[in-house]
Amino acid sequence: MKNKIEIQETAFVTSAFRSSDEELSKDIYAKLWQNSKTDAWIKNYLTSVSKDEAFTHCLRNRYFYEEIKKLSENDEIEMLINFGCGFSMYPFLLNENLIHIEIDKSEIIDFKREKIKKWQEANELPKRKIHYINTDFSQENEKNLLSEINSIKKEKKSFILIEGVLYFLSKNDTNRLFELFRKIQTKGESIGTVSFEDSILETPVFKRLMHFQNKKVVANQRADNHTINGDFYNHLRDYKLTDHQDYFSLSEKYTPKNALKNRDEILNENMYLLKKTN
Ligand SMILES: C[S@@+](CC[C@H](N)C(=O)[O-])C[C@H]1O[C@@H](n2cnc3c(N)ncnc32)[C@H](O)[C@@H]1O
Repeated sequence: MKNKIEIQETAFVTSAFRSSDEELSKDIYAKLWQNSKTDAWIKNYLTSVSKDEAFTHCLRNRYFYEEIKKLSENDEIEMLINFGCGFSMYPFLLNENLIHIEIDKSEIIDFKREKIKKWQEANELPKRKIHYINTDFSQENEKNLLSEINSIKKEKKSFILIEGVLYFLSKNDTNRLFELFRKIQTKGESIGTVSFEDSILETPVFKRLMHFQNKKVVANQRADNHTINGDFYNHLRDYKLTDHQDYFSLSEKYTPKNALKNRDEILNENMYLLKKTN
């Protein structure tokens, strides 16, 4: 564990967590991203921060997988726009008619596009309609991003997903992104988002995360906002909150025999669904 990892490399970690229980996460392709550097990193992370992180990330994937699948089957969405997509594999898990826009830093997108192409050529992955966009959310590039997305999206009904990303951004970047989402979407379209609430800050497990991260992850100098309270989503212009879950409620739902209990030991993320009202 000599080298620090870059923020974008956390995407490998999320994928490795998801592959730890395919039955729960429903992600049968996450294992394709497995590599020895991530394996070593994870071992250290699970013992130093929280042993439940692999399990909770499976719950998160399962939740969004089920919710997006439902909306797609009911013809409520035609497109998934994944902001900070990392190596998530929703395009291959969901119905082939869904169109995808995958957005992340160039390091992730270039690598992901190349790998996906190879795996598709080798018939390890099914063909899907995927558009890729490189960007950096801290670069105030919304105008270009909006026109690039609009040129693909046109009138299609979208689900915007931003999971495991806001924690790495500043408050200002987060506000600009949600304003961008408002411009991208029309009435009836949805957002799925994930964030920590302020109450996590004082828990022993969050303090361990901070300690581990300061030692092992290269910082985004602009990030000042690790947490977002539910009120932010309640007051979001032109959106209404339609669902709010956390790892405790999701574990009750998907693994009732293994429901999570200890608030001090779980890095509890909150998952929200929002619907555009205007
Ligand atoms: C923990 S990973 C989560 C990836 C994916 N959403 C998932 O759940 O599997 C965080 C992702 O956010 C992306 N990210 C973080 N800061 C970013 C920024 N400023 N601009 C674009 N992407 C960013 C990283 O590159 C990485 O892919």
